[in-house]
Formats: sequence, C-alpha cells, structure tokens
Amino acid sequence: MRIDIVTVSPDLIKSPFEHSIIKRGIDKGLVKVHFHDLRKFAVNAYGKIDDTQFGGGAGMVLMIEPIDKCISALKAERSYDEIIYMTPDAPVLNQQMANSLSLKRNLLILCGHYKGIDQRIRDAYITKEISIGDYVLSGGELGAAVLCDSIIRLIPGVIGDETSALSDSFQDGLLAPPIYTRPANYKGMKVPEVLRSGDFKKIDAWRSEQALLRTQRIRPDLLRDEE
Ligand code: ADE
Repeated sequence: MRIDIVTVSPDLIKSPFEHSIIKRGIDKGLVKVHFHDLRKFAVNAYGKIDDTQFGGGAGMVLMIEPIDKCISALKAERSYDEIIYMTPDAPVLNQQMANSLSLKRNLLILCGHYKGIDQRIRDAYITKEISIGDYVLSGGELGAAVLCDSIIRLIPGVIGDETSALSDSFQDGLLAPPIYTRPANYKGMKVPEVLRSGDFKKIDAWRSEQALLRTQRIRPDLLRDEE
C-alpha cells in the first residue's frame, strides 16, 4: 500500500510514523508513506496558501489553487483508490471503514487546516470524507495519523500475530473482553479462574459473555446499531 499525505504541517504528522507498529509496517516494506508540504504549491513567493472567506466570517480558508496543483501532480503519477479529506463535518471513522481502506493500494489523504478548504476541492476531488470524532481539532493531521494507524495495523504481516488485529475491539461489533497477564494474584487481586483453566471452549464462552456485558454497559449504541 502507498499513502500520500498532503499537509501544511509535515513535521506535525511525521512522528507517529516513526514508532512502533506503523514503523514496523514501513520498515517491512508493506506500506510506503509520503508527506507533501502544501506550501510548496503556494500562490506567491511568500508561501500564501490561505485567504479569507467569501461572504465574510471568521477564519482563513485553504485556497483551491495550491491544493489543486498538489493533487493534480500526485494524480498524474498514479491513480488513487480514494482521495480522503480529514474534516469534522463528515462521517465518523469506525472499524469497518478501516477494514475496507486497508485493502486499497493507493490512498491520498488531505489534511484540512484553519477554517477548512475551499468547497470546490471537496466537490471536484474528494471521494471520501472522514472525521475522527465529534470535536474540532486544529487541523486534520492528528486525524490522518489516527486513520493511518487504524489502517496500517490491519495490513497482513504488519502485526506479527495475524489473529491479534482480528481480536481487537469492534472487529465483531463488540468491545474487547478484559485481558490479564502474570502474576495470577497481585496483592489479592486475582485473575478470573476460568482463564487459567486451560479449557478453551469455556474461555471462549467467558470472553464472548464479557465482551457483550462490557458493550452493554459502556457502548449500548453499538448493539442498537446492529438492529
Ligand atoms: N480536523 C479538525 N477536526 C477534525 C476531526 N474531528 N476529524 C478529522 N479531521 C479534523
């Protein structure tokens, strides 16, 4: 997979790609991530990329020209399965979206900044808009990092134990059950006996029950969504 990220703050977004599981995916050659600085496509020598809104209103808007030039240059080199715009006024990211995006070959992710981007870019180029939650961030960079993490960890081979990503919360529409490791008894706080029984049928049944109970308690909306 190849991911191109268009941003006004390349330094802000690079760090998450230099650590842990995402880094492993990159080091193994399973995913390539390229960052593109929108300022390189500025409309003047001073690096201008934003302007005030037509019709008035607070906040600067990323201009159509730099984004058009940047996306056009990238599209001339390869075709993209999705051109994604990170913005709070969009459907909220969930596991199904991450699953389906993890199967794609080329993704282009555009990070918004300031008040947002000129609507004509959304109309002309964007194939998918994604929010990471019902709150407003200063820009799309952190959202893009979250999105990429959720996608890259699903690419086969990125996580050592193939079953690990499949047993994550949400993969079966439920939250994950409680997990424990050694010691079995810490200051009187004991690991449930069933997990130490060696009876895997019983363990599976206990985990399914706990996942359901936890989901009912913490995220009943997930159960309603299934109806
Ligand atoms: N940019 C600003 N807020 C955002 C959000 N909640 N999700 C994605 N991108 C954003």
